[in-house]
Amino acid sequence: MSNTETTLCLVIGANSAIAQSLTHQQLAQGNRVVAVSRTALAFSHPHLTSLVCDNSESDIEAVCARIAHETDLDKLRYAIIFNGLLHNDKISPEKRLEHINQYQLVQSFQANSITPALWMQHLLPILQQSSGCHLCCFSARVGSINDNRLGGWYSYRASKAALNMLVKTFAIEYARRAKKVKLVAFHPGTTDTLLSQPFQKNVSPEALFKPAFVAEQLLANLAKLPADQQASYIDWQGKNIDW
Ligand SMILES: NC(=O)c1ccc[n+]([C@@H]2O[C@H](COP(=O)([O-])OP(=O)(O)OC[C@H]3O[C@@H](n4cnc5c(N)ncnc54)[C@H](OP(=O)(O)O)[C@@H]3O)[C@@H](O)[C@H]2O)c1
Repeated sequence: MSNTETTLCLVIGANSAIAQSLTHQQLAQGNRVVAVSRTALAFSHPHLTSLVCDNSESDIEAVCARIAHETDLDKLRYAIIFNGLLHNDKISPEKRLEHINQYQLVQSFQANSITPALWMQHLLPILQQSSGCHLCCFSARVGSINDNRLGGWYSYRASKAALNMLVKTFAIEYARRAKKVKLVAFHPGTTDTLLSQPFQKNVSPEALFKPAFVAEQLLANLAKLPADQQASYIDWQGKNIDW
């Protein structure tokens, strides 16, 4: 692939601050972006196709059919799923086991595990038509079972751990059915977005990344990963994380 080739990037969960940085960077480089989000993006560009999806099974299926019909899939290099939920007006990460409740577990698994799983399922026929592509889900280091020393954050941790297992399991079937697709679970590091805002107090300024920096690190590190039919779990530096 020459550096001047126009490529296509599929951005799911496109309202994420990191996703928006990535979208702007791709468009500035002359590449095309198909962006999918629950509410419409606040900006437009001639090379940007913006689609709205409520992440239900039927809507994901319909959006995928539209992407397959309207897009030059041979140029697809990246499909990145940014969706994630740590807190909102009704939930915040549990500090102790008494804080666990069914509502928060369901919301967390829906956003962090189930939504990405449905996208990985329905993207298969699309990605099969790419001549080489990375399928990356935004995970988190706290989803590592081996790395769990601090405890707490039950719903978020468990739903990101479930996401990691889903990525590994999808990679086994993708290896048979879409050999040119590399699956990745990615930890962005603590990034200055709405998701991390309530938890930034004890983070030193140099450890709090700008979304644009993380978007650059993401693509730079994905490009280094070989299409080896294995799932990788990496951080923003490209270092492997223990599953
Ligand atoms: N920021 C950090 O420090 C940090 C650290 C580790 C991991 N992460 C992960 O990085 C990813 C991007 O987060 P961000 O920091 O960029 O946060 P953000 O700006 O708050 O973006 C939130 C993202 O999650 C999606 N989302 C929110 N609620 C959802 C729900 N109920 N169902 C489905 N999707 C939902 C949004 O999708 P729409 O675009 O459709 O609205 C958007 O893609 C997340 O997966 C997060 O867990 C972030």
